[in-house]
Amino acid sequence: MAKQIEDARVISQCELAPGIYEMKIQTETIAAQAVPGQFVSLYTKNPAKLLPRPISLCGIDAEHGILRLVYRVTAPGTGTDEFSGYQPGDTVRVMGPLGNGFPIENGHAVVIGGGIGVPPMLALAKALPGSVTAVMGYRDAHTFLADDFAVVCDLVIATEDGSVGTKGNVLDAVREHGLRADVIYACGPTPMLRAVKAYAAESGVRCFLSLEERMACGIGACLACVCQSKDVDAHSHVHNKRVCKDGPVFPAEEVEL
Ligand code: FES
Repeated sequence: MAKQIEDARVISQCELAPGIYEMKIQTETIAAQAVPGQFVSLYTKNPAKLLPRPISLCGIDAEHGILRLVYRVTAPGTGTDEFSGYQPGDTVRVMGPLGNGFPIENGHAVVIGGGIGVPPMLALAKALPGSVTAVMGYRDAHTFLADDFAVVCDLVIATEDGSVGTKGNVLDAVREHGLRADVIYACGPTPMLRAVKAYAAESGVRCFLSLEERMACGIGACLACVCQSKDVDAHSHVHNKRVCKDGPVFPAEEVEL
C-alpha cells in the first residue's frame, strides 16, 4: 500500500525504562494501513536534520488510527531525543507505513526480541493466528513491555545480568525452556539475529528476521542499511539489499549476517 506523509498528533508520551520511550500518535491513514513489522519515519523539527528517523510499530490500532511507538533515545541532541520531549497535543510529521512487514504464518510461533528489537514483536505476537511464545532479551531488570506480552502470549525472559528470567541471551532461554516452534520470528542486534538464524537452520524451522536495527534514514537515501543477500539484485546485479526498502523482514536464509 502507498506510503503517506502526514502531521500526526501526539496523544501520550512516557519513559518505560531508562532511555526507552513510548509515544502514541493519532494518524489519519497510516495506522489503518500498517501491518506488524513495518515502520514509520519521523521528521524532526530541526531543519539541519533532513533525514527522518525510522521507528518500529509496537502497537497498531487500525480502528482508531493510533500507533504506539516505543523507541530508544540514542544520544542527547538527536532526533529521538527531540521526539521524547513531545507532549500530548504536539504534532509530528510521519511517513509510513514503510517496509514489508512480517509474513503471518500458522502454527506455533516463537517470537524473539532483543533490546530495541522487542517493541515490534508485540504487534506481531498480537497478530499471529496460532499459539505464541515470546522470548524477550534485556540487559537488566528494566524489562519494558513484558507485562504487555504476558497478556497476549506465553512469555520467557532472558537478562544479561540474570536479574530476571534466564541469565544469558534469548537462545539460552529457548534452550532452558525446551521451546519448540513451527516458525521463528526475530528482531534485535545483529549478533542475536546471526545466532537465531543458525539455531533455526540447525532445528529445521522456518525463520524470519527483521533487520531494522541497521536502518538509518529509512527511506532508501543513505545506503547505511545495505546488507548482503544470497540472491543477486535484479537491477544492480550485486549481492545486496537495502534493509529499509527490500525489508526490514527477510527469510533468514536470504541474508548474510
Ligand atoms: Fe538509509 Fe536504508 S536506511 S538507505
